[in-house]
Amino acid sequence: MMEPLEQPPIQQPLMESGHGFITFLETGSSIDFFGVFLQCRFDLALYQDSLFDTLSVHLPEEIRRACKKRKAEFLAGRYCAAQALKQLGFANVQVPIGPNRSPLWPTDISGSISHGGDIAICALTRGPLALGVDFELPIPTETAAEIKNTIVCTAEEIRFSQAGIAPEHWLTIAFSIKESLFKALYAKVQQYFDFLDAEILYIDPLAQKLTLTLTRDLCPDVRAGDLYHGIFQFQHNGVLTLIAPPH
Ligand SMILES: CC(C)(COP(=O)(O)OP(=O)(O)OC[C@H]1O[C@@H](n2cnc3c(N)ncnc32)[C@H](O)[C@@H]1OP(=O)(O)O)[C@@H](O)C(=O)NCCC(=O)NCCS
Repeated sequence: MMEPLEQPPIQQPLMESGHGFITFLETGSSIDFFGVFLQCRFDLALYQDSLFDTLSVHLPEEIRRACKKRKAEFLAGRYCAAQALKQLGFANVQVPIGPNRSPLWPTDISGSISHGGDIAICALTRGPLALGVDFELPIPTETAAEIKNTIVCTAEEIRFSQAGIAPEHWLTIAFSIKESLFKALYAKVQQYFDFLDAEILYIDPLAQKLTLTLTRDLCPDVRAGDLYHGIFQFQHNGVLTLIAPPH
């Protein structure tokens, strides 16, 4: 059984922050999670390619060719990953890009990365666990109306309404928790799957917890009816979600 890691939020001094590119780095969080949780804020205006060297992050060829925003978010995400790995005893370890953009973690480490706006996040733990994190800025009302039926079924919509979560929040939460689930399951499933392949069954608005199930078999080990536990929190003007086994 894994030992919970006590992680009160700690803002770290930014001595190696790459000339101000990383403007804020926080280890731990108020999130109820047994692994390492780390988030940073970055300043896109200060991005330059040389920051990859400064921050000791490998710049892969496909990212070298990307636009400035993509390079900056990749760098910030990998910087968070490196700091999180350091806390588990992995110093100077790179996280290469795997199939379908999945991050390739060291053996026996499960992790997940997200970025949105100027925020990058990494959650990490030991063991082969289904772990996924996602940060989402609010989905604009017009877009929400257009995509709603591809993200949730009617039963989920009713559950959110019964949980008393405001309509302007719940689609962003549903979208984000399902992206977290996708990231958590990708290493096993090894293929894309649909938002409606997962269903949010229970919502606890006070504890900000959710339970999801799968509506079809995705691979021999990941079956219809399997349950996954999630957390959501409003922060940095967006929604942060995490899929992790309960502890
Ligand atoms: C991959 C995807 C989840 C990324 O989400 P996003 O909101 O666009 O972007 P985020 O910033 O939150 O996450 C991006 C990070 O997710 C991680 N990621 C991307 N693809 C991944 C995959 N196949 N498996 C695990 N993690 C993945 C990467 O670390 C990536 O950051 P990086 O490219 O800098 O390393 C999304 O674009 C997608 O394709 N989803 C597939 C469909 C889906 O989610 N279905 C729901 C099923 S219930």
